[in-house]
Amino acid sequence: MTKAQAIHSIRKEVKEDMRHFLDIADWTPEELNGLLDLAAGLKKEWQQRGCNKQVLNGRVLGMVFQKPSLRTRVSFEVGMMHLGGHALYLSPAEIGLGKRESIADVARVLSRYVQGIMARVFDHQHILELAKYATVPVINGLSNYNHPCQALADVLTVKEHLGQIKGKKIVFLGDGNNVAVSLLIASAKLGAHFTIASPEGYRLRPDVIEKGKAIAAGSRIASITDPVEAVAGADVIYTDTWTSMGQEEEAEKRRKVFPPYQVNAGLVAQAAPGCIVMHCLPAHRGDEITDEVADGPHSVLFDQAENRLHAQKAILVHLMAE
Ligand code: CP
Ligand code: NVA
Repeated sequence: MTKAQAIHSIRKEVKEDMRHFLDIADWTPEELNGLLDLAAGLKKEWQQRGCNKQVLNGRVLGMVFQKPSLRTRVSFEVGMMHLGGHALYLSPAEIGLGKRESIADVARVLSRYVQGIMARVFDHQHILELAKYATVPVINGLSNYNHPCQALADVLTVKEHLGQIKGKKIVFLGDGNNVAVSLLIASAKLGAHFTIASPEGYRLRPDVIEKGKAIAAGSRIASITDPVEAVAGADVIYTDTWTSMGQEEEAEKRRKVFPPYQVNAGLVAQAAPGCIVMHCLPAHRGDEITDEVADGPHSVLFDQAENRLHAQKAILVHLMAE
């Protein structure tokens, strides 16, 4: 075997063992629970000692962003630092994913420099293509289809506040978007009941509902249009922006359709006593959620935001540690 062939076979070996974090659906309930336990352990370690074991010492995460971000960018960057590694922010203008250079070549080149790639993209196919050609783990930091890192942090937050995920009723109000997709799949995987209420024209894709129903072992998955019916007995009320990144030109049209789905005190009063209110943020206060609720006693919005850090540290350790 030549030296070049030997190097190639080592690369192939690494690739065969390698995992990506692209979709909650790719992970078994046991694996997801393992990630949640790891996240809780890393959080506790950080809170008690002010540091984590440096298991990613010398490792670098390349972060490719096609859209703006506060939480995703900062939590990944800080998470890598806590674990002894480094994160590299690559802005839309720098990379020109698929424009300046093909996605396959971006994946191949980055894989020679960094030990993991996190990407936030418009088109879900682009994250799949990055993963296809990368020889290092790829993490989905949001696409038009889903937002798996958000969902992992969210179920961690549900577990912390309600003691368990299994059997809880999680209700999503509003647009059947990327955040809703991952939350539905995570709920189905972990045994929570999931109901989404959206206006006609903005309902969650039927194939995702069917996928959730197929995954769910004993929990109910439902898509309806009535927000009041949806929140009856809810343990969790979740909402997100009515207009996602990339849909800005539809904002006025959407603002006419979505007001009945606003998470306000009247709607929260219909849910289970002690229910928690969640939002992935950024919030458009006065649209999908009122200040009264976002800053009120049911809100766990900022615990959720914090848990992006802890949940993603678990993903980073799982995928990137030696
Ligand atoms: N929730 C979330 O992903 O926030 P950012 O868009 O700020 O990263
Ligand atoms: N649905 C939102 C989520 C932002 C974190 C968007 O895609 O813009």
